[in-house]
Amino acid sequence: MPAIEVNDLRKSYPKKIPLPFRRVEWVEALKGVSFKVKKGELFGLLGPNGAGKTTTIKILTTLLEPSGGSAKVLSYDVVTQAREVRRRINLVAEGERTLYWRLSAYENLRYFASIYYVPKDEAEKRIRELLQLVGLWERRNDLVMGFSRGMKQRLAIAKALINDPDVLFLDEPTLGLDVQSAVFVREFVERLVREEGKTVLLTTHYMAEAERLCDRIAIIDHGRIIALDTPENLKKLVSEGETVEIRVKNLRPEKVKAVDERLAVSEEDPTRGTLILRGNLDEEDLPKVVEKLIKAGAKVLSVERVEPTLEDVFIKLTGRALRD
Ligand SMILES: Nc1ncnc2c1ncn2[C@@H]1O[C@H](COP(=O)(O)OP(=O)(O)O)[C@@H](O)[C@H]1O
Ligand SMILES: [Mg+2]
Repeated sequence: MPAIEVNDLRKSYPKKIPLPFRRVEWVEALKGVSFKVKKGELFGLLGPNGAGKTTTIKILTTLLEPSGGSAKVLSYDVVTQAREVRRRINLVAEGERTLYWRLSAYENLRYFASIYYVPKDEAEKRIRELLQLVGLWERRNDLVMGFSRGMKQRLAIAKALINDPDVLFLDEPTLGLDVQSAVFVREFVERLVREEGKTVLLTTHYMAEAERLCDRIAIIDHGRIIALDTPENLKKLVSEGETVEIRVKNLRPEKVKAVDERLAVSEEDPTRGTLILRGNLDEEDLPKVVEKLIKAGAKVLSVERVEPTLEDVFIKLTGRALRD
């Protein structure tokens, strides 16, 4: 039995059109998403903003009903057996609004333990363990209000473990964190899966994070899964030796596609006026592309063959860089 099973999931949101136009338009956030996550797997949903990652997580955690298709978590249907699902899962939602800022770290966990009916003695023990695990035991009596973004996220993770869930959902768990906190969160999540046997589904738009952390990754774009495999296999979609990184000056990002369809802007440094372009080009094409760049008025600063990353997979599949 898979831990998560998603079948042709669809979700449309009504889009309000301002008065006097009273018609309703629909945004199709999910256009038929299917995938399975095995027990004990660390599974990633990777995609740009607006791809449908949060919508998928909200449906799987019973916060939102799908418009079509179905989903099961631990073989329970997320719509018709929502209570059974909720008992066995937990979620670290996007952003930092899931904690009570006027309560201390300890009081927050105490409160959430009571929501899950964790018996008092057991709760005390678990809260202590969790706060120690996320390195906040010394700060347990401080108000969350005074916590850094990283500390809040660590507390949010402790909170999500209070009911000892079998499946944990993490929506952009490292978004907006400083480097050190992000490393802590990634290593912590890895340990939850490898040592505690939890199943984790996380979303991210950081390719390196997905690549390093996940057993398998579903790349999602415009409400559809466009590729699903292990990071190694996904990278086989772009051939080694053909991925290039070209650093240019004097070229506007919006002009890049006109020069060559296969190029995408991977990084932009507005202060220096430079762009880093990436693309999959074979041996013979590279000089031609460089020539076209020069013709378009660009100054080519460097050309390098690079190891393909998941970003190159995304560029190859969509023609766009993930950050666009
Ligand atoms: N409550 C909502 N009402 C209307 N549209 C929404 C709502 N939530 C999300 N959307 C739209 O659905 C699409 C997918 O959003 P979301 O699932 O949040 O993507 P992601 O988490 O990958 O950034 C986007 O086009 C977004 O604008
Ligand atoms: Mg999101």
